[in-house]
Amino acid sequence: MASSQLLRLIAIFFVFKAAYFQCPRECNCYWFQNDRHLLSKKRTSDHKHRYGFPLEVTNLVVTNSNISTLRDGNLDSLSNLTELKMLSLSSNGIGFLNVSYFHNLNNLSSLAVTGNNLSSSSLSVFNILHELLFINLAQNELRSIPNKAFEANVNLDALILENNKISHISRYAFKGLSLLSLLVLSGNLISTLHQDVFLDLIFLNSLNLENNALETVSISLWRSNTELRRIKLAMNKLQTWNLDVFQNLTSTVDISLENNQMRIFTCYEKYLLSEVTHVDLSHNLLSNIPTDCFLAFPNLKVLRVTSNRIHFIEELSFLHLPKLQTLELDDNFITSLPPKLLDAVFNFVDLTVRNNNISVIPEGLLKAGGDFRLEIDGNPLVCNCSNVHFYEWLLRPKSQFPPLICEGPIDMKGVTLLESNLTERCNSELTTVLNEDVTTVANTSVTVVIVQYGFVMGIFLFVLLPLGIASFKKRESD
Ligand SMILES: *[C@@H]1O[C@H](CO)[C@@H](O)[C@H](O)[C@H]1NC(C)=O
Ligand SMILES: *[C@@H]1O[C@H](CO)[C@@H](O)[C@H](O)[C@H]1NC(C)=O
Ligand SMILES: *[C@@H]1O[C@H](CO)[C@@H](O)[C@H](O)[C@H]1NC(C)=O
Ligand SMILES: *[C@@H]1O[C@H](CO)[C@@H](O)[C@H](O)[C@H]1NC(C)=O
Ligand SMILES: *[C@@H]1O[C@H](CO)[C@@H](O)[C@H](O)[C@H]1NC(C)=O
Ligand SMILES: *[C@@H]1O[C@H](CO)[C@@H](O)[C@H](O)[C@H]1NC(C)=O
Ligand SMILES: *[C@@H]1O[C@H](CO)[C@@H](O)[C@H](O)[C@H]1NC(C)=O
Ligand SMILES: *[C@@H]1O[C@H](CO)[C@@H](O)[C@H](O)[C@H]1NC(C)=O
Ligand SMILES: *[C@@H]1O[C@H](CO)[C@@H](O)[C@H](O)[C@H]1NC(C)=O
Repeated sequence: MASSQLLRLIAIFFVFKAAYFQCPRECNCYWFQNDRHLLSKKRTSDHKHRYGFPLEVTNLVVTNSNISTLRDGNLDSLSNLTELKMLSLSSNGIGFLNVSYFHNLNNLSSLAVTGNNLSSSSLSVFNILHELLFINLAQNELRSIPNKAFEANVNLDALILENNKISHISRYAFKGLSLLSLLVLSGNLISTLHQDVFLDLIFLNSLNLENNALETVSISLWRSNTELRRIKLAMNKLQTWNLDVFQNLTSTVDISLENNQMRIFTCYEKYLLSEVTHVDLSHNLLSNIPTDCFLAFPNLKVLRVTSNRIHFIEELSFLHLPKLQTLELDDNFITSLPPKLLDAVFNFVDLTVRNNNISVIPEGLLKAGGDFRLEIDGNPLVCNCSNVHFYEWLLRPKSQFPPLICEGPIDMKGVTLLESNLTERCNSELTTVLNEDVTTVANTSVTVVIVQYGFVMGIFLFVLLPLGIASFKKRESD
């Protein structure tokens, strides 16, 4: 059911926000009817009826209206709005949700109380709201999620708890949420998760745990979440990663593990995670990418490994990734790229290796993958004949590059690669070499002539001359 409904709810949520920004300053309460028609009423002068909403209202947004608490009766009339489907009370400084105001809201399907001051004791209100599909409690002061907090919300589709101060989630916190598809827990203080905490979430589609303090994740944490497609674990404190964790996640498409402290990414050949198309391992402490590491992801399209500590890329690291389109290796310590790096990749689009330690781009790499994009600025490129193929590759029409400055050889330092005229230089160097050979040959022949002449001279001096002298002497004596 849920995802189209969720989209609708989210769309309406944004309509709410937009409407809020369009409203005149002096107006504090707005409501929507029948999802689409905005009725807004100014009640600035009449304080008594400031929150006297018509009983037939279905969608109500009261944001930024300085209702510091529901306890003091500001929203008394809320309890009679039995037709209410959607309620947003965001940014009002509310500290507590009194259950008595929600008793009659049997039709409420969406409740947003973001940017308030709610503590975990307000969660008891969810015990009586059985029709809820969407709960957004972002930016509050929640510190823990007790057992069975949402057990009555059996139809719940999306639960957003981001940017609170949650450090403890009880083992059965999400019990009963068997239809939940989106769970957002990012921006909290979670350091451990009980291995059974997501057990009931059999239709969970997207899980966001970004920006917490997780150090490890139990291997069986997601054993029942076989529908999970997106897992976001960026900005935690994970040190190692083990593909065992994913072993039963056959639907997962997107795995983001960036900004952790991983030194080790353990690869296994025994799993086939054939739906995974995106893996992000950027901003970790990985020092190598083992050969065949990604064998488990035969349909991988985007792999990000920027800002790690990689010095060396193995020739066959990406051999079994024929669908790879983007490979990002920026901000590492790579000194060379293997010529066959992209040989097994079709439809390759983008290789980025900015800010590494690469001086020469191998010719073989440039021939692979057709017309791919290469981003290589921030490397100590040498403008010598080893890079003539790269220079010529750069001259192709349509290629767009920032100026690549030659770091060497000394006579080319500071020149841009595009202005280096490498083709002519290398051709003329070749000519010079040939000319040198010709001169050498000529010198040799001169030498040979001299040698031969010397030999003749030698014969003359050492053989003929004495003979001549002898014959002269003989003639003289005769
Ligand atoms: C909010 O309401 C309180 C009284 O309930 C008042 O003292 C305060 O000035 C109001 N704040 C704003 C920003 O209107
Ligand atoms: C709610 O409705 C009842 C009658 O249905 C009425 O007596 C009561 O005053 C109403 N409460 C508020 C806060 O308007
Ligand atoms: C909730 O509201 C009811 C009725 O206004 C009041 O009697 C009760 O004390 C309130 N509860 C809390 C915990 O404030
Ligand atoms: C609200 O809920 C009541 C039952 O609690 C139901 O009779 C009524 O039709 C609902 N209204 C809407 C608009 O769904
Ligand atoms: C939030 O609630 C706490 C008590 O739960 C209170 O001490 C604090 O002043 C409240 N903050 C605001 C901004 O209302
Ligand atoms: C994966 O599924 C298999 C079969 O359903 C099960 O035996 C195994 O324990 C599961 N692994 C994990 C880590 O949950
Ligand atoms: C870059 O490579 C050279 C050798 O080619 C090495 O001396 C130097 O330390 C490397 N720099 C970095 C930052 O790794
Ligand atoms: C170009 O420079 C690189 C790095 O200094 C060096 O390894 C390579 O041998 C040079 N190539 C030529 C043809 O001189
Ligand atoms: C490349 O050739 C152009 C035009 O022939 C010349 O102006 C430029 O100085 C040459 N660049 C280098 C680095 O020799």
